[in-house]
Amino acid sequence: MKIAVLPGDGIGPEIIAEAVKVLNALGESFEMETAPVGGAGYEAKGHPLPEDTLKLAKEADAILFGAVGDWKYDTLARELRPEQAILGLRKHLSLFANLRPAICYPELTEASSLKPEIIAGLNILIVRELNGDIYFGSPKGIRTATDGLFPGAREGFDTMRYSEPEVERIAHVAFQAAQKRHKRLCSVDKSNVLETSQLWREVMTRIGQEYPDVELSHMYVDNAAMQLVKAPKAFDVVVTGNLFGDILSDEASMLTGSIGMLPSASLDKNNKGLYEPSHGSAPDIAGKGIANPLATILSAAMMLRYSLGKAEQANRIEAAVQKVLAQGYRTGDIKTAGCQLVGTKEMGEAVLKAL
Ligand code: NAI
Ligand code: MG
Repeated sequence: MKIAVLPGDGIGPEIIAEAVKVLNALGESFEMETAPVGGAGYEAKGHPLPEDTLKLAKEADAILFGAVGDWKYDTLARELRPEQAILGLRKHLSLFANLRPAICYPELTEASSLKPEIIAGLNILIVRELNGDIYFGSPKGIRTATDGLFPGAREGFDTMRYSEPEVERIAHVAFQAAQKRHKRLCSVDKSNVLETSQLWREVMTRIGQEYPDVELSHMYVDNAAMQLVKAPKAFDVVVTGNLFGDILSDEASMLTGSIGMLPSASLDKNNKGLYEPSHGSAPDIAGKGIANPLATILSAAMMLRYSLGKAEQANRIEAAVQKVLAQGYRTGDIKTAGCQLVGTKEMGEAVLKAL
């Protein structure tokens, strides 16, 4: 099995190094090949997603991605900026399903600003459609209005649209993810106002008949935003479109109080995927050896579960992470009272030992 390792920029190389060590310690024979991406791709080959890097990503069974971006590239033309790498990979590899777990480890409850009884033991999964919706729907642009409240004024416009096959494929991913968990799926939409959402709800309900073991419910997005802070543990898996999912997944990540702990996966229709921490390249702490590598290590675990068919090994890694937290090891971002403060490498070592 081949894994494309794309460290990227900022803390990317530091956190990826620890995840690679953990993968190497599993006793499997993975072939891992590293290539530059983002700002590093631009420095090496003049493009954030160099041709060779894309080729490697296409050949590989899965991609382990660090993070891209740095303020020093802000003046580059948009198509040369580091973030284009991740957009390019999503597009070229047809990665349409974004899986973002939000887990609140009991040991880290105090790192969140929410009441412990609301978030202790939280473990939910947000499945966000990634290729469609108002972000990509045409037509879009800025023009002179010919109707509406202010004819003749400049107006911006975007188009929200989802086709049935687009909703069907994300529905299958979400129902199957729910089958691997507590078998409850909540589909989030705004079908009281949006036609797109009415079709979304209809398709979710229809596909749900193929998964009689999964309990399907529906919720409006405004209510879902409230329920996520009021009673997040009531959810198991949430499935929603690109726009709502962007917002709700960021909201859910904050429930856990620690961006350095959250993995993510982006899958295609064959469960090939790109795995990366939910956070960015953290240029403010890059090179200091203090970044939390756990989100990346947990992303590697997701890769084993969803793309490489190694659920046992995924469980091993997740158990090891749980163990180091119980042992009191903390990087600065998840510092708790009386903990043992460690850097990136020490945290990686601790996970290796716990394995
Ligand atoms: P960020 O997630 O990189 O950092 C936000 C804050 O969280 C910073 O204070 C940072 O030090 C801290 N942080 C993040 N990850 C951490 C970790 N593993 N351990 C400890 N602390 C951590 O988001 P920000 O600052 O908005 O963006 C920085 C750069 O990252 C930008 O260039 C942005 O475009 C890029 N970015 C890249 C993403 C990707 O590669 N998929 C996603 C989000 C942002
Ligand atoms: Mg976002």
